[in-house]
Amino acid sequence: MSDQIILGAMFRAVGAYPSGWRYPGAHNNPLDDTAVLRKTAKLAEAAKLDYIFFGDWLATGHDLEFRDPYLLARIDPLSAITYLAGVTKKIGLIATANTTYTDVYALARATASVDRLSGGRAGLNLVTGAEPRAAGNHGRDAHWGNEHRYDQAGEFVDALRLLWDSWEDDAFVRNREDGVLIDPTKLHKAQYGGEHVRVAGALNVARPVQGQLPIVHAGTSLRSRQLVRDEADLALVALPSLSEAVAFTRHLKQEALNIGRDPEQIKVITPVLPIVAKTQAEAWEIFDTLISLVPLDDGGELSKADDFPKGRSIRALSPVVGVALGPRDLDDPVPVRVAARFSDVGKQLLETIASRTGRRIGSASRPVTYRHLLVTHVIPSSVIVGDAQAIADHFELWFTSGAVDGFNVLTAFMNDQFEAFTTLVVPELQRRGLFRTEYTGRTLRDHLGLDRPRNLHTIEREQRESAESVRSA
Ligand SMILES: Cc1cc2nc3c(=O)[nH]c(=O)nc-3n(C[C@H](O)[C@H](O)[C@H](O)COP(=O)(O)O)c2cc1C
Repeated sequence: MSDQIILGAMFRAVGAYPSGWRYPGAHNNPLDDTAVLRKTAKLAEAAKLDYIFFGDWLATGHDLEFRDPYLLARIDPLSAITYLAGVTKKIGLIATANTTYTDVYALARATASVDRLSGGRAGLNLVTGAEPRAAGNHGRDAHWGNEHRYDQAGEFVDALRLLWDSWEDDAFVRNREDGVLIDPTKLHKAQYGGEHVRVAGALNVARPVQGQLPIVHAGTSLRSRQLVRDEADLALVALPSLSEAVAFTRHLKQEALNIGRDPEQIKVITPVLPIVAKTQAEAWEIFDTLISLVPLDDGGELSKADDFPKGRSIRALSPVVGVALGPRDLDDPVPVRVAARFSDVGKQLLETIASRTGRRIGSASRPVTYRHLLVTHVIPSSVIVGDAQAIADHFELWFTSGAVDGFNVLTAFMNDQFEAFTTLVVPELQRRGLFRTEYTGRTLRDHLGLDRPRNLHTIEREQRESAESVRSA
């Protein structure tokens, strides 16, 4: 493993925590996202982050308002990175694309172009999608099942790679005297005819600066794991605990080795949502405010809305913690005698709350309330809360234990929390020698420690030529 942590910013303009947009002063107007995009790029590049990462979701609807408000309306990822290519100089730019609904030629073309426009700083996160409404938005009757999606995704990547390799690196001979611009033997058709993906090629964009863009893959299923092992440069995986993360990464790198890949060339990245301030107490206060702003089912008008998420009531918590919880004020502390009867899941929730908020059952100054219990249960997130030291300790532990190569850093609300991360946590990681203080490379591959792949056709030609020279000798 490298001795440097990989750090990317996972961009969500109205905040990654569902109540982030309600925080005083937080950005919450998608009409002004461009300004936040620019500000993020500036902060991220000043902090020397590896990349800015844009997820994608191919539908919207009222139901997202309470669950994932950042998905309601946002700038398309490829447009965002193409724009940022022009306003940044060093930082990597990763866009998500959905293999189920994207045309491979169009995607190869757009991504090769943005890699050229950015001087080799583009990356591509391929997903197969989990949103059924995407089907209707793309003229289909139904969202394909997991097997079908991944059968198609495997072919999609093969075709994409062939398209990016259409032009060999030295195909443009540019001989003015003879009037010869290209060497036609160095332009190759993809001629890909799979069961799900077919494309003739060749690509009408020169080979990407990076040869092949780094491919990220994010998913959860077994088929997703296989795609990561076979194709991904970066595996983006949610890893619930340190021990599970260590086991996952060790297993993935071994599997990669088994199929002949260099395990150093697959990087494991996990999402994390640090809530950071100058002091631990301030960070706790920010998180308490965010928790207090999550809409819960308290019988009020909001919770009667058709799309209000189910299960956000104290009553719904009873089966989770294994104790019948009567009507209560959400801000009442959970009594010691009630917590003592909690199920294992309930006890686990209490541990999570303690680690994030310092709140404990029976504490006079920082008790656990029903609200804390409910919010921690209904908002799945990888939150860590603390000052720069505490957040850096977490990153350092996970990195040095071999659990991950790096982190996709989510931000609860913009811009303050992202600024706090880049100006408090990053310098602490730099002080510890765990993160670069200057960009040393030019391309995203350079930042990530990934080799530049040679063109498939160049390799084949060289093999052919060396076999011929052996035969004629
Ligand atoms: C950390 C993480 C981030 C993801 N981001 C996206 C995303 O932005 N857009 C998307 O469509 N899928 C995203 N996914 C993957 C989808 O959840 C995945 O396509 C879906 O789960 C279907 O694949 P699966 O059956 O392998 O899980 C992400 C997954 C993880 C673990």
